[in-house]
Amino acid sequence: MGLETPLTRLLGISLPIIQAPMAGGPTTPELVAAVSNAGALGSLGAGYMSPDAIRAAVRRIRELTDKPFAVNLFVPESVPDDEATRSAVAEMKDYLATAGPWDEHVADEIRHMDDEAARNSEFDAQLQVLLEERVPVFSFTFGCPSAETLQTCRKAGMTIVGTACSVEEALFLERAGVDAIIAQGYEAGGHRGAFLKTGESSLLGLVALVPQVVDAVQLPVIAAGAIMDGRGIAACLALGAAGVQLGTAFLAATESGAHPAYRQALLAESHAGSSARPTVLTRAFSGKPARGLRNTFIDTLESTTGRTPAAAPVRIPPYPIQNALTRPIRNWAAREGNAEYMSLWAGQGVQMVRTGSAADIIQQLAAETEAVVRKLSGDGPSGAHA
Ligand SMILES: Cc1cc2nc3c(=O)[nH]c(=O)nc-3n(C[C@H](O)[C@H](O)[C@H](O)COP(=O)(O)O)c2cc1C
Repeated sequence: MGLETPLTRLLGISLPIIQAPMAGGPTTPELVAAVSNAGALGSLGAGYMSPDAIRAAVRRIRELTDKPFAVNLFVPESVPDDEATRSAVAEMKDYLATAGPWDEHVADEIRHMDDEAARNSEFDAQLQVLLEERVPVFSFTFGCPSAETLQTCRKAGMTIVGTACSVEEALFLERAGVDAIIAQGYEAGGHRGAFLKTGESSLLGLVALVPQVVDAVQLPVIAAGAIMDGRGIAACLALGAAGVQLGTAFLAATESGAHPAYRQALLAESHAGSSARPTVLTRAFSGKPARGLRNTFIDTLESTTGRTPAAAPVRIPPYPIQNALTRPIRNWAAREGNAEYMSLWAGQGVQMVRTGSAADIIQQLAAETEAVVRKLSGDGPSGAHA
């Protein structure tokens, strides 16, 4: 049975499934290529990568597959350069330098972080590499590039996919000229892609968001957020989505580059039952709300900064400054294998995470989806794991 949709036709893929870009290491060229070779669309999360590293990764993907794939970037946003921000940065530097079990070397790195460099985005140079390398699909989050930039991408033959957390943002992206829209629900792992309002003001759950976006725009809509198996995929197709984007579902795949301690924390959730720890939306790591497993770093920072900014003894500076300030801590945690100080991004479906090769996961997802669709059409017995 085919799962052809307007999205599969737009992207030239056989299954309406996209492996989410996951910046920070999980989406290795091996994962991206394995997903694309299996008939879905692999995506490289390149938001934190240097232009040279993106070029090398794209070339490696091309050595491993001749199928379409996506590269994802973070659209830069303006960061206030006022007294309030400067004092928040100074306070946070002082606080973080001594807030945990890291050594003096890490503390020094935090204290001497160059605030100016932290504000700068390499977006233009990154995008230039995508254009030069003729990347088939360009996806983005945290905003919308200028009309001129999108026009350049279109002329270069790229398919363009933007991220929305509200109907308003979906309409904005449609008017800007994208080819498809990711509707990111409240459940989603990682950062909120919201850009017209704050991430905390755009928190629609997927079941509410997808049909409203589908009704509002003419373009294919891609649902994202806690979709972990064929039941979730079939449900999103029933809501009118033309495809789905899954992140957490691929984090523990064989080809994933997730740190072993991160992978272990995710897999512990799949066996945790009633002692599972909740995922939370937090600004602690980056200054922008993102969903992940609660850990010591989040607890420490949230109990110090307070839930309401007005009452906070230490304020969290905006993204991407806070992200730069916590990088030495995350690098230290990676060297130490200490998951309590890593960003353990994960969606609300984390307990359903599975292991195995990306090809196996894709094959299971496709078989489960087809079985659910058959069952719903009264066409024989099945279950989510048939
Ligand atoms: C570890 C991780 C990193 C992510 N990084 C990115 C990213 O770089 N760019 C992006 O557009 N979305 C990113 N996301 C969000 C995904 O695109 C998607 O919205 C999310 O994974 C869907 O929820 P799920 O994880 O429950 O499947 C990330 C998600 C995770 C879990």
